[in-house]
This record gives sequence, C-alpha cells and structure tokens, in this order.
Amino acid sequence: MSTSPATDIAAAAADPSTGTAGFGFYVHVPFCVSRCGYCDFNTYTASELGAGVSRDTYAAIVRSEVRAAAARFDKPPKVDTVFFGGGTPTLLPAADLAAILAEIDRAFGLADGYEATTEANPESVDADYLAELHDGGFTRLSIGMQSTASHVLKVLDREHSPQKALDAVAHARRAGFEHVSLDLIYGTPGERAADFADSLAAAVDTGVDHVSAYALIVEDGTALARRIRAGQVPQPSDDVAADRYLAAEAALAAAGFSWYEVSNWAKDDAARCRHNLLYWEGGHWWGAGPGAHSHLPGVRWWNHKHPSTYGTALAQGLPVAGHERLTADDRYLERVLLLTRLAGGLPLAELRPAGAAAAERVAAEGLAELRDGRLVLTLRGRLLADAVVRDLTA
Ligand SMILES: C[S@@+](CC[C@H](N)C(=O)[O-])C[C@H]1O[C@@H](n2cnc3c(N)ncnc32)[C@H](O)[C@@H]1O
Ligand code: SF4
Repeated sequence: MSTSPATDIAAAAADPSTGTAGFGFYVHVPFCVSRCGYCDFNTYTASELGAGVSRDTYAAIVRSEVRAAAARFDKPPKVDTVFFGGGTPTLLPAADLAAILAEIDRAFGLADGYEATTEANPESVDADYLAELHDGGFTRLSIGMQSTASHVLKVLDREHSPQKALDAVAHARRAGFEHVSLDLIYGTPGERAADFADSLAAAVDTGVDHVSAYALIVEDGTALARRIRAGQVPQPSDDVAADRYLAAEAALAAAGFSWYEVSNWAKDDAARCRHNLLYWEGGHWWGAGPGAHSHLPGVRWWNHKHPSTYGTALAQGLPVAGHERLTADDRYLERVLLLTRLAGGLPLAELRPAGAAAAERVAAEGLAELRDGRLVLTLRGRLLADAVVRDLTA
C-alpha cells in the first residue's frame, strides 16, 4: 500500500478517470488589508505575515506550483474552471492574477468555454483594474458585498461603504464581465429585517446574475467570538437566521433567481458557478497556494498553511502538508453531504439501506420530496439541511 503523498498523487494523476467529469484549478491568495472580525479563512495582514513573505513575489511563487503540478501528469487535463479565492485576491495587481491564469493555460491548457472567477473586495477594485482582469481572461467576478447597512458593515469590520460594492458591480459590467455574483451575510447582530431586505433589493437592482447568501457563523478564535463572549455583541439567533433565509428566497425568486445550492441562487443555468458545482458534484481539482486543498481520484491533500512554510516547501517539491486516501465511507459521507444541498438533489440509488430508510422519514416530515429517483430538499428542508444530512448518514 502506498503512503507517501508523492506516490499517491502520481498514481491519481495517472488514473484515466482524472478530470473525466471536468477539472478545476483553485488559487488561494492569503492576503488581506485587515482581518474582518468574523473571518477564519487562511489569510494574513501585513503585520501577521512576518519576514520573508511578500505580495510582490507571490505570483511568481504560485506560478512555480502550477508548473510543478503540471509536471505530475503525463498529459495534464484541460482546465474547465478556475477560481481565485482568499483572502483578497484583488490585493495583488491585476497583471499578477492574469499572469497566474496564463501560467495555468500554458501548463495545463484552458478548455474552450472555460470559467475563470476571482473573488473581489469592493474597496480593492476600480474600473481600470476590472478591465485589466477581463482582458487577462477572467470571465466571472464574485464581489463581497455582505450588506448595504453601514451599521452592519461596521459590526463585520468591513473596510468598504455600501456604495463601493454597487460601484464595483457597475465597473465589472462596463468592463465586460457577463457573470457577476454578490456575497451577502445575514443574521449579523444588530441587523434588522429591513436592513437585509434593503441589501437583497440593492443586490437585485445591480443586475447581477448570481447571489450567495450565508448565515453569519461565529467561528472559534475570531474577534467576533471574543466580543460575543465578552458580552459586547449579542450571539446571532438561529430563528432570525431562518427568517432571513426565507426572506432571501422570496426576494430572489421574485426577481427571477432560482436556488441551485442551499446558499446560492442564479438567474439561469449559465449563471451558476461551475467551479463550485465541480466541488459539490465530486469533481477533481488542483488547489495551489498556502493551505489549498486538492482532490484527484481517491486522494486528497492540502498544502502548508503559512505562506512562508509553503514557500520553503515549494522550493523542494510539492508543498504538501498532509494527505489522505479516501475510503468508501469517506466518499459516501461526502457525496450525501454535498449532493443533498443541491437543487438537483441526491440520487436515492446512492443511499445505503439505513440512508434510504432515513430518506423516507425525511420526506414524511416534509423536509424533502422524493421524485424521479432523487431526494430534493423542500424550503423547510433547506432551513434544516445539516440535520437532514445527519439523519441520512447516521
Ligand atoms: C473567502 S470569503 C472572502 C472573500 C473576500 N475577501 C471578501 O471578504 O469579500 C468568501 C465569502 O465567505 C463569506 N464568509 C466568510 N466568513 C464567514 C462567516 N464567518 N460567516 C458567514 N459567511 C462568511 C463572506 O460572504 C465572504 O464574502
Ligand atoms: S476581507 Fe474577506 S478574506 Fe479578508 S478577512 Fe475579510 S472576509 Fe476574510
């Protein structure tokens, strides 16, 4: 049995099923100007980074991982989707993001009709920047709007005004981006129902074709968790979050959006995020950058988390911090978890006997419908998606 990451990755890269259901590339950019109090993503402000790591050299370093990745394949698969996430990818010059995308194209080849998304913070982009990104081959933008209420943005420690996010969408559309998405957070302490309704209306009015809406999660170890423990900020309420979710569904459906994953709505099929769908449907991808995760047939691995450790490891080979061979149980749990959250539903044929019995129960409770051989969450089931998954996999 092979155990070293290099051997397992080589075997997976040589597996003829690699990329047969599409192949994705994720690029992690671990820099932010300041840390939002609720965020526990792998990102560093200048003062947290320490010596030896800089934004100036980052593009060159990631490009070397792209080349090292391609060298693992006899015939690198064409890349259907690319996603730059963070952190704040748009803290790097647009030319750097374009150069990394071009390196992926050189090393792997971008498939015809590829999708290339970058996350963008509203305050970090202007018209020229977005035009340069579009010219550099990006096809889609995901902008972190979060809310249009100034007092909510303040609790979230956001650096931008409400108007900045709306301006960013206008610049993106003028730059030629056909697909633009806005991220919203709901349930922030101090947010009123009217604040979220206004945020939804403003998001819809921009003309974007995709919206993601997430309930605020209080992550351990964040400044927000500390403020809540100290009694400075109230704990978000599950009941309020459920009301906000229903408000999101109503406002977005009325504006012509359909949900395709519990937290994601799109105007039509072409507006869906193909990269995220690839994750949710069990596709294969390479993740480059500090802390990025990758998945090839039967194996998952993750890179060293800190940019400086990552850089040092990459100088000697792949910057892998850990890996696991996936067991049949791992694969089963993951497929049930991810497919249940999709509007396309979970094929009942995938369920083991205990899961099939749970599916009947879940349907009898009105949390899902069983139709065309699939389990599809109802609106009430979407509110309780985690509990449904627990029941299906118990
Ligand atoms: C990788 S993050 C950040 C992207 C970008 N830096 C920004 O802030 O706009 C992507 C999205 O995850 C969501 N998010 C991050 N932390 C969250 C939390 N604790 N609870 C709910 N949503 C969160 C936010 O909506 C954010 O836009
Ligand atoms: S800007 Fe985005 S990635 Fe950076 S700390 Fe805030 S939410 Fe996290």
